[in-house]
Amino acid sequence: MFTFRELLPEDQSWIERASQDSEIQKWTANGGQQVKERQAWVILKDTEPVGVISLHSVDLLTSAADVGYWVAPWGRRQGAASAALGLVENELTLIPGVQSIQLSIMEGNHASIALATSLGYELVSAGTCSCGTQGAVPAVIYEKKL
Ligand SMILES: CC(C)(COP(=O)(O)OP(=O)(O)OC[C@H]1O[C@@H](n2cnc3c(N)ncnc32)[C@H](O)[C@@H]1OP(=O)(O)O)[C@@H](O)C(=O)NCCC(=O)NCCS
Repeated sequence: MFTFRELLPEDQSWIERASQDSEIQKWTANGGQQVKERQAWVILKDTEPVGVISLHSVDLLTSAADVGYWVAPWGRRQGAASAALGLVENELTLIPGVQSIQLSIMEGNHASIALATSLGYELVSAGTCSCGTQGAVPAVIYEKKL
């Protein structure tokens, strides 16, 4: 059973442990550490933290919310990211003016692309993301209308 709650300062220690993982370092911004997020939530499997999902920003011109996520190695392939995206979709319907969710996924991140596709997100454009350690890198943008 997955739920989520707001990220707290005391989450830092398990987040540091999780973000030793090479997949998190390779595919996410800031090696899994949360910086300047508009809102961030911890994904819980029962009571155990297994990941983080964040609202990076809302583009007022396109009405699109930019969302990022990662799941710790010990929580993967159990439906955590899918459940968390569903929960965030519900939260975003409460923000006036938000009409879609966008995921900026670094090219080559097959797990995240498979996740997005499995949830009905569609490829809408190519762009860049600040993923990994090399600054802006090529990305694919997936979108789902709310
Ligand atoms: C990508 C990631 C978030 C997926 O999280 P998860 O909780 O394991 O995903 P779920 O269990 O909800 O997977 C749902 C579906 O996505 C697809 N999927 C997820 N991981 C996959 C993988 N490694 N390979 C292929 N398909 C995958 C599958 O279709 C899966 O359904 P199934 O398990 O029934 O086959 C996780 O692997 C991760 O954190 N990776 C490192 C950081 C990262 O890439 N973050 C995203 C940046 S855009």
